[in-house]
Amino acid sequence: MKVVLLGPPGAGKGTQAAVMAKEFTVIHVSTGDMLREAVKQGTDAGKTAKEYMDRGELVPDSIVTKIVCERITRKDAANGFLLDGFPRNINQGIELENELKKINLPLDIVLYFKTKESTSIKRLTGRRVCNNCGSNFHIVTMKPKKEGICDACGGVLIQRDDDKVDTIKNRLKVYKEQTKALLKFYKDRKILREIAGDMEVNALFKEIRKLLKKEKLI
Ligand code: AP5
Repeated sequence: MKVVLLGPPGAGKGTQAAVMAKEFTVIHVSTGDMLREAVKQGTDAGKTAKEYMDRGELVPDSIVTKIVCERITRKDAANGFLLDGFPRNINQGIELENELKKINLPLDIVLYFKTKESTSIKRLTGRRVCNNCGSNFHIVTMKPKKEGICDACGGVLIQRDDDKVDTIKNRLKVYKEQTKALLKFYKDRKILREIAGDMEVNALFKEIRKLLKKEKLI
């Protein structure tokens, strides 16, 4: 399957993509994770990206498109991929379409996580991530077994720099201004499929599974 996960910050894209990747043996390509890794490594792209990410703005298309295209043209992506956080504006949508045409791997569907703004804010302010392996938790809805410690690797759980209320509000504003136009872009191509992002994690995954079955992708 070649699927894009589209939706506002905090819609649960990363959480569902992690489960889907494991369950359906496809790669999970998260631009947010790749950019955070570049920041950690201190690369030139990472240094530039950090300035934008800390403000909740989009990182320049040239940086993001390059890392995604490099990733989806690797051998293991031929089996399928989940794009989480990309594309995020029309320009990126067009770049992706052109790149996939070149390798003859058109997108199957775009899963749109329709989510209330209040849900996004609750989820993001309570999110904690492992500073070692990047696993996601939530202080109310997805608590780790031991407070402040990652279940997967024992790393320390921290709050993301961009999960502060003011930055979250800006990320939601940027989403509305830039990413929403993509809904029309994919609706016109008849590959947009909507799901309710406000649902609880397991219930949402059941819905996704049902939809993928209907689309004959699993
Ligand atoms: P990115 O890391 O992609 O952040 P985002 O899109 O804002 O998405 P999030 O990771 O915040 O939300 P999510 O929908 O994945 O939710 P999650 O599953 O984690 O991007 C960060 C920054 O990088 C951007 O602001 C930008 O600067 C830059 N960037 C990235 N891609 C770019 C691009 N293409 N172009 C330009 N710049 C780019 O869940 C959130 C929380 O809720 C977690 O705590 C989780 O445990 C909990 N939770 C999840 N699902 C549920 C549920 N169903 N019920 C209850 N709790 C839930």
